[in-house]
Amino acid sequence: MLSVVILAAFFFVATFAQDPNVGVISLSKLNILPEDVMTAGCSHAGDFAHQFHVAYSELVNRGSCVFSGQPYHCAVTKFTRDELVTQTDESSVPRCDGCPPGKTLIYDHCKNHPQFVDVGALPDYIRRSCDDHNQQTDCIDDPSNLFDARIFAFQPTEDRCYIPPAVANVEALYGQLVRSPGKQIKYVEEFPFAHTLPTNDTAFWNDTEPAGYDGPGECLRHVFDEDMFAGKFHPRNVHIFDQTEFFVTSPPDLASNGTGLNTRGTIYIPSDCETERCRMLIIASGCGGPFPTFGGADIDFIKYADGNRIVVVKPCVGGYFDAERFPNAAEVSRGLLDVYGQLSDDYAWQSGFHMKVFGRIIKRLVHG
Ligand SMILES: *[C@@H]1O[C@H](CO)[C@@H](O)[C@H](O)[C@H]1NC(C)=O
Ligand SMILES: *[C@@H]1O[C@H](CO)[C@@H](O)[C@H](O)[C@H]1NC(C)=O
Ligand SMILES: *[C@@H]1O[C@H](CO)[C@@H](O)[C@H](O)[C@H]1NC(C)=O
Repeated sequence: MLSVVILAAFFFVATFAQDPNVGVISLSKLNILPEDVMTAGCSHAGDFAHQFHVAYSELVNRGSCVFSGQPYHCAVTKFTRDELVTQTDESSVPRCDGCPPGKTLIYDHCKNHPQFVDVGALPDYIRRSCDDHNQQTDCIDDPSNLFDARIFAFQPTEDRCYIPPAVANVEALYGQLVRSPGKQIKYVEEFPFAHTLPTNDTAFWNDTEPAGYDGPGECLRHVFDEDMFAGKFHPRNVHIFDQTEFFVTSPPDLASNGTGLNTRGTIYIPSDCETERCRMLIIASGCGGPFPTFGGADIDFIKYADGNRIVVVKPCVGGYFDAERFPNAAEVSRGLLDVYGQLSDDYAWQSGFHMKVFGRIIKRLVHG
């Protein structure tokens, strides 16, 4: 009899240990100050931080930090000065607004040829592509929500992926959307870093000594418009959460699975935020496989978050990608966010594949 109990106990422990979802939480509403939600990111995640901010400006109404990012919907917009190439399955720009049939834009034209970009034309799409911002759901929130947004934009002088002054176009786009650009936007373009989100430890390009530029601190102090000191990173405050409960499952052509979304994301909840109202920072990105982690500059953001009552949520890509369904999506297939229009025409709207799931995650945390 005893052996049966022992065997049963052993069996229970063994199956429990094998369950890959052990320790994975389901997100629930937190005590978030709705007026203090912001995004940040670098490179494709910088593009996305800005894209998510603009499309969900009602939800993300504090602001954004764009470290090496390109302007909203710029990747697929043809400007007068653009040179065109033949559309093929390898072009990486499967969609183009304004190109003749069979032609498309040079891949990454807003990053490699910032002089092509007509910044004055960019607000049109944001203001006019949804019938009525209050009526049409899943589109782009009314950009008047951005009037008071605070923006930090960072352009390293030695960035070979976002050739200077590519990020100045993000600054200039926000300049047309906020009330008082001189006060609300901080544009930093003088530091000789390579393509990076610099932390205290990062060296300048072709150098080895830490330059001591605190990118996360500069970003947070500007966006929240207050002095802030870094606290400590406490691993016990890190949780992995299930993203699949936010997936769209039907109709099949809108299914989230197969679009590169990860099954899990990760979140840092400072101890104070169990009881007190907190702000929130969204840093959507690739997250290093099925068990997402915080790494690199995330840790410095978290040090500030812990000391200043900010929840840090990291919705993740880097999951299953179906190349048959999306044949022309080289960047998304290697784990990047869709900031290129590779998955759908509405990639930059709330209804875009990545945008929709991440929007649901943030709404759950803020509104339940
Ligand atoms: C990079 O640094 C090395 C050592 O300081 C120097 O010799 C070299 O000229 C630098 N390269 C460039 C392209 O500036
Ligand atoms: C996604 O689709 C793949 C391939 O069909 C399948 O193996 C996987 O279990 C699916 N994941 C989810 C979360 O539905
Ligand atoms: C970066 O260095 C400054 C100056 O020493 C310090 O005040 C700040 O807390 C550091 N940032 C982080 C995230 O540790």
